[in-house]
Amino acid sequence: MQRRDFLKTTGTLAAGAMIPMSLVEIAFGKGNEAQNFTFAFISDSHIQQIKGAKFVRNWDKGLERAVAECNLLNPRPDFVMYGGDIAQLGKASEIDHGLELLSASKNELKYMLGEHDYYLDLGEHWSKRLGEHYYSFDHKGVHFVVLNSILTDEKWVNKWSSGEERMGVMAGLDNPQGSPFMVGYKQRQWLAKDLGKVDHDTPVVVFSHSPLQKIYKGWNFWTDDAELIQAILKPFKKVNVIYGHVHQIQYNQIGNITFHSVMATAWPWPYPSTYAKAKQYLPKLTVEMNRADPFFERDATGWQFIDVHSGNIDLSYVLPNNENRVVGFNTKTRRPEDRKYQDVQKPPQKHY
Ligand SMILES: [Fe+2]
Ligand SMILES: [Fe+2]
Repeated sequence: MQRRDFLKTTGTLAAGAMIPMSLVEIAFGKGNEAQNFTFAFISDSHIQQIKGAKFVRNWDKGLERAVAECNLLNPRPDFVMYGGDIAQLGKASEIDHGLELLSASKNELKYMLGEHDYYLDLGEHWSKRLGEHYYSFDHKGVHFVVLNSILTDEKWVNKWSSGEERMGVMAGLDNPQGSPFMVGYKQRQWLAKDLGKVDHDTPVVVFSHSPLQKIYKGWNFWTDDAELIQAILKPFKKVNVIYGHVHQIQYNQIGNITFHSVMATAWPWPYPSTYAKAKQYLPKLTVEMNRADPFFERDATGWQFIDVHSGNIDLSYVLPNNENRVVGFNTKTRRPEDRKYQDVQKPPQKHY
């Protein structure tokens, strides 16, 4: 091992040890079920096969680092959610390699599909390894729902001559031949039924790969039936939606629903507000990061841990090459706010 590599490795451990633990022990109150807990969230690793046993090193390293740092969390998170796009082109070899890297996790993992896992074989291999595309579970007084939000029109799905061609089109950020994501009628019916059993005072946390709010259609930072899902969630006093896919920090409040995005372990996407000419709806509450610096391969990538308390969540971004950020719920303004940067637009980000 080179001295430089060794320093990098020990640097990783030191950074992990310095994760702000004081945030973790916050009371979560829902009657007698009140319990403190945290969970972690890793997303968008885009594991990409070059040839045979050769995979893109940088994407591997991002995921390896996130798993290693998650393993250092103390107290341990109750589980780790994986937010989708484990693969880049949906290949079985990519999904398998990603799961192999994730098997280093000392914490229980739960999984969600991304479009990069799906559009080659319509989720066949993913299902074989990981099971249901949408499901719910209860944990310490919170009802969790995992959705498959990256479905699209049947007609579009069937118009391609091969799965590879379909996947290639869906994999592009800025591709006019793509098709908007949606949760779809069948899953919306299931969601309404699933939530029908849940008391309206119970905090609900929904995981989706694409945002369940409309940000920018041209890049599919978008879910076509977002408003219909929001309507199903409306009767609940406290709802949090956490999504991957956008590879950048975003947060927003729409009525009773708090939205948080998570970072990718692979690479950052630009903010549509800085690139897109067409109309986009980047949430006003979001303070954008300055990024990305091509000299730092981990710039604007990372993973996160989440404190659940009183039905609200505080989301801590662990960012190896940037200053860590915390976006938490402000009970006075009733919206998520960056703990440090809320009043400052486009603050400078420190690199290490
Ligand atoms: Fe992604
Ligand atoms: Fe995605």
